[in-house]
Formats: sequence, C-alpha cells, structure tokens
Amino acid sequence: MKKLIRFNRIDTPELLVDESIFALQNGLIGVRGNFSEGYNESDYKQTLINGFYNFYDYKYEENSPAFPQVGQRIVNVIDGQSIEIYLENKAINLENCKLTKLEREYDLSKGYTTRKAEYLTKQGYLIHIYEEKLVSFIQKELLIIKLKISSPNYKGKLKIVSSLQLPNKALAKEFDSRINIPSSDQLTIQEKYFNKDLVVLLTETTSSKLVLSAGMIHNIPMDYSTSSKGINGTLEISLENDFEINKFVVYTPQSLYPRYLEDNLRILDEAINKGFEHYKLEQLNYLNDFWKHQNIEIIGNKMLHESIIYNIYQLNSCAVDNTELSIPAKGLTGEGYEGHYFWDTEIYMIPFFAITKPETAKTLLLNRYHHFDKARKVAKDQGATKGVKIPWRTINGSELSPYYPAGSAQYHINSDVAYSVIKYFQFTKDFDFMIDYGFEMLLETARFLYDVGNYHAGKFHINNVTGPDEYTAIVNDNYYTNSMAKYHFEVLGDFYYKYKKKLNLAITLLMVDDQEIEELIKAARLMELPFSKELNVILQDDSFIQKKALDFNKLPIDTFPLILHYHPLFIYKHQVLKQADALLSMFLLDYDDLEVFNQSFDYYLPKTTHDSSLSKCIHAIVAFRLGKVDLGYEYLEDIAKIDMENTHHNTNHGIHIANSGGIYLTILYGILGFRIKDENIVFRPVLPKEIESLKFKLFYKNTEINIYLNSEIEFRVDKPIELGIYSKNILIEDTYSCDYRKNYKTKLKK
Ligand code: BGC
Repeated sequence: MKKLIRFNRIDTPELLVDESIFALQNGLIGVRGNFSEGYNESDYKQTLINGFYNFYDYKYEENSPAFPQVGQRIVNVIDGQSIEIYLENKAINLENCKLTKLEREYDLSKGYTTRKAEYLTKQGYLIHIYEEKLVSFIQKELLIIKLKISSPNYKGKLKIVSSLQLPNKALAKEFDSRINIPSSDQLTIQEKYFNKDLVVLLTETTSSKLVLSAGMIHNIPMDYSTSSKGINGTLEISLENDFEINKFVVYTPQSLYPRYLEDNLRILDEAINKGFEHYKLEQLNYLNDFWKHQNIEIIGNKMLHESIIYNIYQLNSCAVDNTELSIPAKGLTGEGYEGHYFWDTEIYMIPFFAITKPETAKTLLLNRYHHFDKARKVAKDQGATKGVKIPWRTINGSELSPYYPAGSAQYHINSDVAYSVIKYFQFTKDFDFMIDYGFEMLLETARFLYDVGNYHAGKFHINNVTGPDEYTAIVNDNYYTNSMAKYHFEVLGDFYYKYKKKLNLAITLLMVDDQEIEELIKAARLMELPFSKELNVILQDDSFIQKKALDFNKLPIDTFPLILHYHPLFIYKHQVLKQADALLSMFLLDYDDLEVFNQSFDYYLPKTTHDSSLSKCIHAIVAFRLGKVDLGYEYLEDIAKIDMENTHHNTNHGIHIANSGGIYLTILYGILGFRIKDENIVFRPVLPKEIESLKFKLFYKNTEINIYLNSEIEFRVDKPIELGIYSKNILIEDTYSCDYRKNYKTKLKK
C-alpha cells in the first residue's frame, strides 16, 4: 500500500497547520514545512534542535523560593530553509504573486516531502517551483533541500538568494498559554566562517549561553555576503533552461558535539560529496526496514489508515539516541508547550518504542535517570526528605512548571515513570537495565511518594495532589495517583525480594533494607482507593462527588478548551474533567471488574470535555474494552483527525505527539485488546464495522507475530509462542485462527 500524505490547500491559515503536518524531524532536528521562497518578507520559519533552549525569568506576583524561578524554552534557531527567488527585484512569494497551484506530499516510504507551487506574477508570468526536503534519519544533523524552478512563459533572469540567517520575529498572537513564542531575539551570531563554499554561523543563546554551529553548502557556486541576520548566497540565473539547486544545511549543538565546528564542516563536506541521491537512498533503506517491522494496515478505511501510518511515522521520527534528550510534547514540529516534555513520554510514547524500538525506550527512561540529581532537588524544593520527584515539565531535567496546581502537584508522574520502567522490563526482559537502573528508579520515585503520603484511620493517603485531569486540582486521594502508586510499590517489593542477591550493590548504595520495603508494601496494601458503593463507581478523589455539576454542553462552543476562557477556580469547583483520570488507571492496570469499570465509564464520560488531546485515545481503548465498539470507533476517528483536520485548532503549534502514540495504543490495546499478563501476552479483539480488516505486526520474546483480524483473528508466528485469546491459552506453532467473537460475546454478557 502506498504510504503517502497528500494535501492541496492554498488558503493562508491552513499553511501554518500544514507547516506542522509537513514538519520533518529525526529526534535531533526538526524543520517545519515552510516554503523555502517564503510567504512574505517577514515570515516566521522554524527549525528546532532537541535540548537547545534559552532561559527566561518567571515572574510571580506572590513568589516563593521553592517555585521554579527560571523558565526554559526551545529556541527557533538559525533558519536554513530560505531560498528566495527574485524577478526584477520582486520576490516570488504569496505577498507579491498569486499562488495558483499548490500540491504537497509527505512520502512516508521515502522519508521526504515534496511541494509543487505555481505562482502568477503581476506581469503575467507563471513560475513553477518544485521542492524536495529531507531531514536525514541517518546523518541526524543534516537537512537537504532541492529546489527546481521553471516557467512556461518566462525565459529571463532571476536572482536566487539562499541564506543561513536569524529567524524573523514571531508575529504577535492572541493569548494562548500553550504556546509562548518570544518576540525578542533568543540568539546572537558570534562568528561567521567562510571556507570556500562552506559557510558556518556560530551562534549563542542570549541567556543560557548554549552554542550552536549552523553551516550550509550548495551544489553550485554562490556569491556569499554577510548581512546583520547571517550569510546570503546569491546567484543570477536565466530561466532559458529549468534551474535546480541543492542546499545542504548542518546543525551541531556544542552540548552534544564538543567539536561542533569541525564536525559541522566535516559533515557538510561529506554531504556535498555524497550528494542528495545518496541520502535519499539511505532514507529509503531505513524506512524499508521500519515499515517491514511496523506493518499496520487498516483495510477498508483510507482516512484511518493514512492517519495511523502518518502518526506512527512522526512518532518514530521523534526517536532519540542520546540520554540527554527526550521527546517534547510536540516533538520537534513546533514551539507549543515551549519544547517541554511531560509524562506524555512515559505513558503515551514509550509503549510504542518498547514494542518497536526497545533501545529508544531505554534511552528515554535513562534520560529520567540521567537527571536524577535535579529530580532530587525538585523533591527537596517540594519539602520531601527522601527520593526524587520527576519534574512535571522540563527540558534539561529541572522543574519548569510555573503553575503548581496543574503542574508540580501532579505527583503521579513518579509512578508513570515507574510504570514505564516496569512495562519496558515486561516487554524486553532487559534484566541488566533493571539491576543497573530500573530498581533504583522504582525505589527513588517511590520514596518521594511515600514521603508525601501519611496514614490516617488505618489507610495510607496521598493528599494535595493533582491527577492527570488538570480541571480538578489539589485534591486528596486522587484515584489515579494512589492506584498507580500502589502498583508501583507492589512491583518494587516483589522485585526486591525476588532479586535481592543480584541487587546487592544497589541495596548498599541506596541504603535500602527490608524494613523500608516492608513499609512501602504496607502502604500499598492500605492505600486509600476512593470508591462509591452507592454509585458502584471509582471516585476520582475524595471530594469530586461533592462538587457542582456542570452542563458544559450549554456553554458556548468557543469557550473550549475551558482553561483558556475561565478562571481555574470556576473550573475546579465543578464536576468537569479535562481528560481521562480514573479511567486511565483502570486501563493501565487492567481493572477486571467490568461492571464497576462500565459504570465508572458512564459516570465520567458526560463530565469530560476532552480538552486535552491525551483524552480520547484512552476513552477509545476503554470503550473497546467494555464492548462499546461503536463509541470506541467514534473516538478512534476523532483522534485520527486531531492533526490531519486540526480539530483542536492548535496544530499550528506542532503536532500532538502523545496522541500519535495514543492512536497506536488504540489499535493495539483497544481493537486488538493486547495486554501483557505475567509472562504471556493476551488479545481480546473487537472489530468496528467501519474497518473491513486489520493487519498488525508485533515482536515479542524474539518472535515475529503477524496478526490479521476480520471476522476471525489469525496469527502467523516464526517461532512457537503461547498466547491468550480472551481467557483461552493457545500454543501457536506457526499459524492459528479462530472466531474470537464467541468469546467476546460471552465476556460481554458477564
Ligand atoms: C495535558 C497534560 C499534558 C500536556 C502536554 C496538557 O494539556 O493536560 O496531561 O501532559 O498537555 O501534552
């Protein structure tokens, strides 16, 4: 099946959305899908480097020394995308010409984007532009742009200006707390290097003093000159023949490349010698391998199929290979959330990597470990005497949340990281990781939570927390936080006793003993888990049920997301959820009392706005689990459209990478009903009528498992493996198929 995303829209507002959708990224650099020729003279082209940020001071009216005082935001670095085209000194762009045709494609098999544009100039000339843009998955520092220019009715001169320059200032925008693009300069140019056809700018961020070297070279000689913004390469051409230029741009941040200038020059030199075709081939080989392993096909539903492959492609494009780095909430596709990363990484993204690319999952977990010293400070700042507190939002490992009720108070992030460690281990059986890091991660995150909590009337309580639902803040005994902590403490206890001998060194270094572990196990046993006997539902926390109802369907449609339109205190006093909370834990911990699960789902659903893009995927998975297949499908369709159709109205800030992971989880955990149970994997499939059939490939315990789902489920494996289908355990030698719907129906009746 062709793996292609094709867009054809010309209206300007959509261009900003399409910049995100057509963003190219590889975990190190992210280049938004800007037009090389520019929209106008001052358009805002964006290139982001993972972990490259600037500081700025937080200002609080009522400050506390324990609040984070300095923020960090990802920096829009030197722009290498610009290749401007001038006809009689007028730039060919949206401002001066009419755009009469625009065709864009994202080729997910080849790993680059293409764009065909036709401009009509005021003189009546038609100028055709064809562009290819590639950010290499192999040579991660490299961006390549090929631009072809031709015209059916103009054969005269054009001037080409290809530059490496400071980005223009961002345009003033309406208030939106989810994006905070600075209007002042974040970078200064320190030096300009010219080395024959290689040119390099050395830049430094204004306050964090991070150094980045950005270089460029072209496949044809240019006249280089400097400007206050950077370096321009100029060329006069005649359109008697079609014209083509290849531009190679390389970024090397000092933090990751101590020899940033030499490395930059070397990579540029190699790139120009190897040429664009070489990198295209490398990209193709990389993606052939990727798609061979990630064979997901939705048959009979084109929209869904395209969205799924696009989203897993983008998620995979976020893979990092350095423990200094993690994955920002928007990947490197935009400046939304200032380039911070959150629990999104552990709960929504790592499951994909644990299954498809375990080394990336491990790198992401090690990123948390790598920053444990800073997390220890966060714990102290929050008054704890022991353990680490994973920062709620961060770039370099320190806490950046300026609004603690919907930030730092989300203690659940400690158990989210622990959960991710546990799932990584269950999936990969990477025992060395657990001994060297995993055990310590489980212990230190648990120590903090234990320190926060206390006993009252025979129960262990964790008070003054915010769960995943940020519309309910600073409450006692949030079910998600407590149930995840319970699981976390229990698994830690089991692991400690099971591998005590092997953990000898860690036990000594961490000064942990049986008594401490017993205390954690006891806290887990006595953990308060709010429940209403009357309603037969899990309670989100100990006060949710007392709050006022809010019929948000009666609120004007343009007041969503509520957080951008109402005072938090208005929101907090109502029974209204931004996103899945108790239901998320019920999914993650595979809650098995389906009656309570069902009633809890029905209870929270009408109270949930889904203002967060992290919400509907979880509702889809739960709906499928509960046999509400039509509803599950409705949510699946909604999440598939979040970026493709900009349904959250902020795809221009970057694509929602947690949702990309959520889409994958919905197929695997929702439709296929996949779970890991002890040593075995289990499937509880359901198939919505809107999908004819589904193909999915999975690797578990070195076995390749090919799944085909329609009215039956069929497994093809390359080694014998035992797995469960609903409650039946089956040893599959090579192929096996069955009509799963009988099991499914019996299950539902229960
Ligand atoms: C959600 C958080 C999430 C953050 C970044 C917020 O809107 O409520 O759960 O971590 O976005 O994606």
